Amino acid sequence: MKTIIITGANRGIGYECALQMATLSPNEQIIITSRNIELGNEAIKSIKSKTGHQHLKCLPLDVASLKSIHEFVTLFSKEKDNQLISLVNNAGGQNTGPLQYTVDGIEETFGTNQLGGFALTLLLMPFMDNEASITFTASGTHDPEKKEGVEPPIYNTAEELAYPKVTNEKEMTAGQRRYSTSKLCVIMTVYELQKHLENTSIRVNAFDPGMVPGTGLARTFPPLLKFMWNNVMPVLTLFRRNTNTAKKSGANLANLAFGKQYKNLNGKYVEGTKVIQSSKDSYNETFQKDLWNTSIKLAHITQADTSLQLA
Ligand SMILES: NC(=O)c1ccc[n+]([C@@H]2O[C@H](COP(=O)([O-])OP(=O)(O)OC[C@H]3O[C@@H](n4cnc5c(N)ncnc54)[C@H](OP(=O)(O)O)[C@@H]3O)[C@@H](O)[C@H]2O)c1
Repeated sequence: MKTIIITGANRGIGYECALQMATLSPNEQIIITSRNIELGNEAIKSIKSKTGHQHLKCLPLDVASLKSIHEFVTLFSKEKDNQLISLVNNAGGQNTGPLQYTVDGIEETFGTNQLGGFALTLLLMPFMDNEASITFTASGTHDPEKKEGVEPPIYNTAEELAYPKVTNEKEMTAGQRRYSTSKLCVIMTVYELQKHLENTSIRVNAFDPGMVPGTGLARTFPPLLKFMWNNVMPVLTLFRRNTNTAKKSGANLANLAFGKQYKNLNGKYVEGTKVIQSSKDSYNETFQKDLWNTSIKLAHITQADTSLQLA
């Protein structure tokens, strides 16, 4: 039996992705990851009761901790069915409060959204099936031309993102910018990773779920905004462009990762169900290289840790 891994699947888009995946792939093992194993097991119970899928489990993983990522990979390596047919790097968050750092001393949004998925992917590479897919949840907020109402990204160097200088920007502004920039990083990682996978049949794509109000993404918002996000903005899913329910976005994500219709898609940015261009900066090869090299250094990954050619 081959295995599918979906990170951050105890709630939100990741949970809905796992639910759809359970329908798409009755014969594969689905491992969802959660940093809270009780919540992860509740999600498993719910998916099992809705789909009857027989091969579901949750393993603990905090993508903001390099130690937890290594422990997860060790646990996975001991699984009987550890041939990975699909990896969905979905776990992520936005912090619009004060600057926070991961246990590894890296700015939290960059550490979680970029470095976590990056390190996990490289360490899982030895387990990838020849035809595996890797999918990263990105965001339309990475593209200033989309005018998503979120502070646009600023990329100078990855080092500066991991260890940011304190600025006099408002917390909300700085937090949104860290988020949109982390998602720009995710897309640049996809493009750079694709180059390193050129001589293989493993494919890698970035996914924009659109705006998905009502999920846990707004948990650090001020109370009024959080209320709007949970109770008012969901109505926008009825008519606003690229605004979706978690159910619809989760299904789109599962389809991109495992659906037959995308089986030849590689190195692309997909908004919902459509391949589109990502931002101008995301194609900047100097940025891509800087991010790749710095991410390797920050995640302490050596050639011995991965079957992927790092250089
Ligand atoms: N909602 C939107 O409008 C939107 C738009 C574009 C992109 N996205 C992206 O979609 C993905 C899912 O977000 P969502 O909207 O579904 O939000 P959500 O409901 O908050 O789900 C986020 C998931 O990621 C997990 N997660 C966060 N930090 C983690 C960490 N350090 N280690 C392990 N898991 C962690 C969360 O676990 P806990 O439950 O333990 O926190 C949760 O399972 C994220 O990457 C987000 O950036 C969302």
